[in-house]
Amino acid sequence: MVYNIAIDGPAGAGKSTIARLLAHTLNVAYLDTGAMYRCLGLKVIQHDININDTQQINDLLANTDIRIENNGKRQLIFLDGKDVSTDIRAHAVSNMASEVSANEQVRIAMAQKQREMAALANCVLEGREIGTYVLPNAKYKFFLTASVDIRTQRRFNQLTATGQTVDYNQLRADIILRDTKDATRPVAPLRCAEDAIKIDSSHLTIEQVIELMLTYIKE
Ligand code: DC
Repeated sequence: MVYNIAIDGPAGAGKSTIARLLAHTLNVAYLDTGAMYRCLGLKVIQHDININDTQQINDLLANTDIRIENNGKRQLIFLDGKDVSTDIRAHAVSNMASEVSANEQVRIAMAQKQREMAALANCVLEGREIGTYVLPNAKYKFFLTASVDIRTQRRFNQLTATGQTVDYNQLRADIILRDTKDATRPVAPLRCAEDAIKIDSSHLTIEQVIELMLTYIKE
């Protein structure tokens, strides 16, 4: 029987790093669901589509092919056959991903795809509503948080390490705005599932978070 581990939480809480390492430790698959929304967000920017034009967004969705490959160490993301693994991490794409993710049709299609992937193999999935909406019956559920300042600093370090120029205060404001949008959208908002284990990673190292998760998983 296949089992799934859901890791949800706000932007910059360390979900991707933790989910990838946890999956590696347990020798199971890993799915960064945010990357799927980022792909569509990138395409919206490339095609200069009005985010409020639901019809255009739905047409775009119908003509978009998102493929995710795990090459052992990294997850590679292909948008219509092109490797966009780096492009989707641009700061502007984060905001657009959040915008498109509020579209109900987009969400239904993405969740369907995620459920199909989760059914194939033991898998760690990270996102915003995996434990509440995509896989409410996931065997293990974690909700990873950290203070807004720590999350901003982590994102700032990530972006500057990849050569992007960002203003710390603007980034902090963008993170707060994105979390508010993600948590207040009508369909499947960012929320801690009632049966999820909440972990505040503000003062924990990556290794400590993994260790803590493993104690619950081994139980
Ligand atoms: O995890 P991330 O920063 O790559 O996600 C980008 C955006 O995608 C996020 O602001 C909201 C949306 N998202 C979502 O709605 N549901 C998910 N499971 C993952 C991401």
